[in-house]
Amino acid sequence: MRNVAVILAAGKGERAGGDCPKQFRVLADGRTVLERCVDAFEASEEVNEIVVVTHPAYVSAVQAMLLKCSWAKVSAVIEGGAERWESSWNAVRYLVAAGYAADETNILLHDSARPFVSERILGDVCRALKEDEAVTVAVPVTDTLYIVREGRLTDVPPRSDFLRAQTPQAFRLGVIADAYRQFMADSAHQATDDIGVLRRYCPEVGIRIVAGDEANRKLTYAADFAQ
Ligand code: CTP
Ligand code: MG
Repeated sequence: MRNVAVILAAGKGERAGGDCPKQFRVLADGRTVLERCVDAFEASEEVNEIVVVTHPAYVSAVQAMLLKCSWAKVSAVIEGGAERWESSWNAVRYLVAAGYAADETNILLHDSARPFVSERILGDVCRALKEDEAVTVAVPVTDTLYIVREGRLTDVPPRSDFLRAQTPQAFRLGVIADAYRQFMADSAHQATDDIGVLRRYCPEVGIRIVAGDEANRKLTYAADFAQ
């Protein structure tokens, strides 16, 4: 089994504002969000290879980063799309077209905006992939949730029925490629994460949940950078 991490870094970071997409912002330790993220996967023994997906305008910036950082596992920098799912799909079809074996390759799709992912999470995800074809990372919900219809509260569901999704979300390559092919053929397709695509189009595939942690939060708004 070959574990290939895909770092999704093609977003514009509109909600975070600033003069560059948030993955290129510098954190308190002097590394950019993207650098810190790639460093985490470089340090994981279970991860064999890393592919970075970025906006076409930033391919050369990422290539310059490759020269500067001593990354041994980054094998490609590819272009993403306008939506997150398009960036994921580009990575999946890149690996398929490059001849990675459908049942001997695992793909770990990770938000570059989660630079604090731990070695423990990466290890647990890779170990889970030895038994399961799809693995996600999630944390408990601490706020009470409301169900709302047309602006009115209709229910207060049991909190224990819910988890908050994180990344990486990992799959046998053939399994996620099959789900994305069906997604692409559906004219009404919509997705906010990759597990959602699998669940919708291949509901028969079991999905293992690995415990995430609060540190693996997504940097979404400007305030998230201040913490
Ligand atoms: N992403 C991507 N390609 C896109 C959109 C998002 O690779 N077309 C990546 C982002 O770079 C980010 C991750 O997916 O690391 C999670 O998305 P999000 O937090 O929504 O980031 P952005 O889309 O960049 O931010 P915003 O929605 O505020 O513009
Ligand atoms: Mg977005």
